[in-house]
Amino acid sequence: MPTIVIIGAGPGLGLSIAKVFGRRDFTVALISRDRDKLDGLVKRLTAAGVTAASFAADITDHASVAAALDDTKQRFGAIDVLEHSPAPRAADELALVGPLDVTVDNVQAQLDFSVHGAITAIQRVLPDMVARGNGTILVTTGASSVAPVPMMGNVGIAGAALRNWVLNLNQVLADKGVYVAHVPLAVWIGSGGPETQPDTIAELYWDLYTTRREAEHPYNAL
Ligand SMILES: NC(=O)c1ccc[n+]([C@@H]2O[C@H](COP(=O)([O-])OP(=O)(O)OC[C@H]3O[C@@H](n4cnc5c(N)ncnc54)[C@H](OP(=O)(O)O)[C@@H]3O)[C@@H](O)[C@H]2O)c1
Repeated sequence: MPTIVIIGAGPGLGLSIAKVFGRRDFTVALISRDRDKLDGLVKRLTAAGVTAASFAADITDHASVAAALDDTKQRFGAIDVLEHSPAPRAADELALVGPLDVTVDNVQAQLDFSVHGAITAIQRVLPDMVARGNGTILVTTGASSVAPVPMMGNVGIAGAALRNWVLNLNQVLADKGVYVAHVPLAVWIGSGGPETQPDTIAELYWDLYTTRREAEHPYNAL
């Protein structure tokens, strides 16, 4: 069975992507910090007939991410798909600031969260994918990675940097069998109709995985 790893797995989009791939016979590995929450998500997936396991790690703790990915590989074998979509909790104090309040410190926190964590995770799985000539990496951000959203002055700097790297990876890996794509979500997940629901949005990830049709797929439901 192929394996998908979801980094930043929570009850919203992360769980929905797990269900979408799991019901198409993927094994699912969930990575985030809270072990109790992860246990609950694994139970829900198992009840739905999906083979799933969780590996606790904090994306700002690079050693823990590397260990979780190594443990995933040891348990399930090669990682076929890595989906990256951590979303900070309010309590994490990753303050959103407007452009006038941007500082080195509040940008550094966003870079640590969004960019450096993604680099650690992706670089841990990429060499194997390139060696196999096959693999998929899907990176989720918000709208401010693509277009200015003033209330997200510092978040947008980090998201734009991550987007830039992902799009570059897409180009250089296209002829190596590895598909890398960026999904900027302009939506408040779960806020309204079906187009805002994580189960709907998650189908896009399966579509991108199967078609490899573009380097970036903006999703707009605002
Ligand atoms: N929610 C929205 O309205 C919205 C809007 C635009 C874009 N997005 C994007 O959509 C994606 C998913 O959003 P979602 O709200 O549905 O989230 P979700 O998949 O329900 O959960 C995301 C998970 O990220 C984990 N996380 C947070 N900090 C982490 C860290 N330092 N290390 C490891 N994991 C961490 C959290 O679990 P732990 O606390 O257990 O670690 C959380 O449960 C994110 O990429 C987000 O930027 C969301």
